[in-house]
Amino acid sequence: MDMNGRTALVTGASRGMGRAIARRLAADGALVAVHYGRDGDAARDTVSAIEKAGGEAFAVRAEFGVDGDVDTLLAGLTEGLRGRALDVLVNNAACGDLDTLFAGSVERLTPRQFDEVFAVNVKAPLFLVQAVLPLLRDGGRVINISSAAARIAVPSQIAYAMSKGALEVMSRTLAGALGPRGITVNTVRPGATDTGINGFLDDPAVRAGMSAATALGRIGRPADIADAVAFLASDEARWITGGVIEANGGLWLGPQEQPPG
Ligand SMILES: NC(=O)c1ccc[n+]([C@@H]2O[C@H](COP(=O)([O-])OP(=O)(O)OC[C@H]3O[C@@H](n4cnc5c(N)ncnc54)[C@H](OP(=O)(O)O)[C@@H]3O)[C@@H](O)[C@H]2O)c1
Repeated sequence: MDMNGRTALVTGASRGMGRAIARRLAADGALVAVHYGRDGDAARDTVSAIEKAGGEAFAVRAEFGVDGDVDTLLAGLTEGLRGRALDVLVNNAACGDLDTLFAGSVERLTPRQFDEVFAVNVKAPLFLVQAVLPLLRDGGRVINISSAAARIAVPSQIAYAMSKGALEVMSRTLAGALGPRGITVNTVRPGATDTGINGFLDDPAVRAGMSAATALGRIGRPADIADAVAFLASDEARWITGGVIEANGGLWLGPQEQPPG
């Protein structure tokens, strides 16, 4: 994809999918703002990996879920862009109690956890879009990273799943609102992907079960998601808005047929 002369902000780009998305957009030619919450070393690693590959990037810190989060991010973004407009916003940063598989069940979820998940996964992306609207070029792109949990019931992650449902409604609604400016807004819905957010994939039995649940028979890789985002960010995706791309190797498509005999 040709992103030369373009700019992009990727939230949560210090690690995982966000890092892969930032690296891919930079490799395609964009100047990338690498947002992070707490892990400055990891964000600097993303920036230096981009620079070593010949790309351009800068890091921006803003912890979501605290007062002034979006204002802090906007200030760092504006400084780093040095007067340039923003072409692509990728709302990727998210949190959830996913380290152990049942931490977010209805029996164990606390109001505080719920508020934190919604502050980071829903409120921050919405008000970030609002804040960057004056910077966002007509014909630009907003890409929101949801989760298969928004489509498939995952009782162990109820607040996280609900937050991704809200993000998808936001995405569709914004597609209608920003269409007159030629801005497309789409959702990418990954399935289980090898990153730090889901420690439960370290359990070989869980890993085997999740792999078997996909038509393509494996866990996703961050680059699988980055490539889908790069397409949506490109000119080639100009006619796609309000859509959802299932980037999950064909997760739970239906009963698996057993070979005869
Ligand atoms: N991995 C999966 O299996 C999977 C599946 C479906 C959907 N997703 C979605 O894919 C996206 C990326 O997930 P991932 O697996 O790559 O996650 P990850 O490896 O845990 O990385 C999360 C990123 O979000 C940032 N972040 C987290 N909480 C934050 C906060 N309060 N304020 C600011 N930044 C914050 C982190 O910044 P710091 O490094 O500074 O903490 C980090 O850069 C998320 O939207 C997630 O819901 C993931």
